[in-house]
Amino acid sequence: MAELSRLAVLGAGHLGPVIARLAIKAGYPVTIAASGDPEDIALITELMIPGAQPRWAADAVADADIVVLAIPMHRFQDLDPGLLSGKLVIDAMNYWPASDGVVQAFEDGGSSEVVARRLAGSAAVKALNHIGYHELEDRARPAGAPDRGAFGIAGDDPAAVAATAALADRIGYDPVRLGGLRAGRALQPGEPVFGVVLTRPEFERAVREEATRAVREDTLREEAMGEEVLREEARSLS
Ligand SMILES: NC(=O)c1ccc[n+]([C@@H]2O[C@H](COP(=O)([O-])OP(=O)(O)OC[C@H]3O[C@@H](n4cnc5c(N)ncnc54)[C@H](OP(=O)(O)O)[C@@H]3O)[C@@H](O)[C@H]2O)c1
Repeated sequence: MAELSRLAVLGAGHLGPVIARLAIKAGYPVTIAASGDPEDIALITELMIPGAQPRWAADAVADADIVVLAIPMHRFQDLDPGLLSGKLVIDAMNYWPASDGVVQAFEDGGSSEVVARRLAGSAAVKALNHIGYHELEDRARPAGAPDRGAFGIAGDDPAAVAATAALADRIGYDPVRLGGLRAGRALQPGEPVFGVVLTRPEFERAVREEATRAVREDTLREEAMGEEVLREEARSLS
């Protein structure tokens, strides 16, 4: 069997260890890092993620093919983008104004697009962000299981999306490719697929229905604006 990519998980809180555990089970070599000394997470790694290697973040990233960002969004600002240059970076983060503070760039658009702009030298993919850490582990299923869950993947780099889809499949989920990073907005908090585990048909239907609803709303808004312009013109002529 071909050797699997080396995975570095940044973040050893709730989500990071679950991703690390699932990846180890799937056969990936995995390192994990928090923000500081690996000694601080050595015991918890040994107990909770047997097989993973605790490292300094910079060392974990340097040796990895794939880096998973499982850190709070407001801590992302501390990360040196140069460190991640040339890597496939899976952005599993979510923007939560209550804990991250209000950041206008995130308010205006997709969080992964903002992340990707900062990580211009990396191939950024949005994935692994929309399922809670408990469910992510509990609902992992082998391929073909009738209740196998799906997770969405969005990215502009086809090879990075393909590698992330392979990871999804190996850790127990059906990958659903949504399109470029912009399409990853469908995976953000507040969207229908966020915080629930759906089978692939349910997931695809929910994304499709939401996209249709958004287009319908945009059309109604544009029509309302058009009617207002016509009324304004009529008023100015009378
Ligand atoms: N919890 C979930 O179910 C879930 C599900 C999907 C997505 N997410 C997203 O995943 C991210 C993490 O969530 P969480 O609940 O796991 O957070 P958490 O429990 O607060 O853990 C955060 C971890 O990130 C580490 N960290 C912070 N800055 C770092 C850096 N520069 N380099 C390496 N590690 C760093 C922290 O290390 P220190 O202790 O050393 O600071 C800590 O281990 C968030 O963006 C969240 O929205 C969470």
